[in-house]
Amino acid sequence: MHHPTRQVFVCNQQRPPGHPRGSCAARGAPAVLQALWGELQKRQAFEQVGITYSGCLGPCEGGVNLVVYPENVLYQGVTAGDVPEIFDQHLVGGTPVERLRAPASTW
Ligand code: FES
Repeated sequence: MHHPTRQVFVCNQQRPPGHPRGSCAARGAPAVLQALWGELQKRQAFEQVGITYSGCLGPCEGGVNLVVYPENVLYQGVTAGDVPEIFDQHLVGGTPVERLRAPASTW
């Protein structure tokens, strides 16, 4: 079992259609997860990065949300297209992607 340097939790919460909070799954979380797993595979970065899907992280209206530990950084509005940048700059490089970071008032 690897002990990755960084762990990503991706909200993949589902809710019924029309639910007032919506859900990250409806906003594209499955595509974000697939992109993350694809980048992980491409880089063979299994000892550096762990990727896990989760339930609701709280600020649903800004989804797709994901959180990266140990830095405790919440990203909002993430799309599959953002994943390579998050992977290279933060998950491997150690520097959070500020343009996707949730405001301090959110997290
Ligand atoms: S549904 Fe994803 S944060 Fe709540």
